[in-house]
Amino acid sequence: MTASSNSVENMTPTRSVYIARLLTDSVTRELDSHPGISFDIGQETPPARAELLERAAGKDAAIVTLTERIDEEFFTAAGPNLKVVANVAVGFDNIDLDAAARHGVTVTNTPGVLDGATADHTFALILALGRRIVEADRFIREGKDWVWGPRMFVGLDVSAGATLGIIGLGRIGRAVAQRARAFDMRVLAADTTRPLGTDVDGVEVVTQRELLAASDVVTLHVPLLPSTRHLINRDTLALMKPGAYLVNCARGGVVDERALIEALDSGHLRGAAIDTFEGEPRVNPELIAREQVVLTPHTASAGEATRDRMCRLAVDNVIAVLAGREPLTPVTTG
Ligand code: GLV
Repeated sequence: MTASSNSVENMTPTRSVYIARLLTDSVTRELDSHPGISFDIGQETPPARAELLERAAGKDAAIVTLTERIDEEFFTAAGPNLKVVANVAVGFDNIDLDAAARHGVTVTNTPGVLDGATADHTFALILALGRRIVEADRFIREGKDWVWGPRMFVGLDVSAGATLGIIGLGRIGRAVAQRARAFDMRVLAADTTRPLGTDVDGVEVVTQRELLAASDVVTLHVPLLPSTRHLINRDTLALMKPGAYLVNCARGGVVDERALIEALDSGHLRGAAIDTFEGEPRVNPELIAREQVVLTPHTASAGEATRDRMCRLAVDNVIAVLAGREPLTPVTTG
């Protein structure tokens, strides 16, 4: 090692970054390639609130996940050095953007790198629901006697003219549409936050009311905003086609779970697949108790390479801001 590369000056970290949760192994290893920066790395599980505030104090940057509430109290505790908070998620409803702006802190998220994985998971849920895969798996595991029969576990013919309604035709919604078209589904879309044309890549753009009335499966891909909270409620569920299915890989708060349970119990909806929950990580026991519900623990983006890309993008955003460059993917609300 040369004298200069071994000098105290080169070895002394000049910036410090708090990473609230363990990132993927490969991205954690890559942190060594940033010698001027020290990383204070948390653990697998979310930090307790007091620990989050304490470890963020005095840091130049924080890498957080959707389990951390980043609000006025957080920014005050972190103090004036904090320049950037990088969320390892495309959603950013855990972050108070107004508070970030007041404290002059840049907020970044991870758009674009998880569209395919999230759309794959959504489609897996559509198929699991429609073809009753989880129910059938449970049935086999119960070890009961069975024999093939024409009425056994009959479900939705996904690729024989079923209609998919996508609410939220952003990047993820479009990736879901692409998969649905490959399955010869009729695809309808409505959006809550942006005007759409009349036909986007073979997707028929309709009003939300038309979509709800015509779709065999409705899938949600909107961010959680004040305007989308309980977008699916007693009234909108009543507009859905009798016997339809609901899929939610967006955010739990977009669906009024109580109203969903009522719609399942009345038989108005045939089933639902839920990846995100209103009281996450708590899952309403009434959802767990229902046969016609498929549940996954907020894992829609959990592809191996996808999670690497999400973690790497969060780190790259922090490095860019600390180096005085523009962040790669700042959160934009416009
Ligand atoms: C996951 O839910 C994300 O927002 O990326």
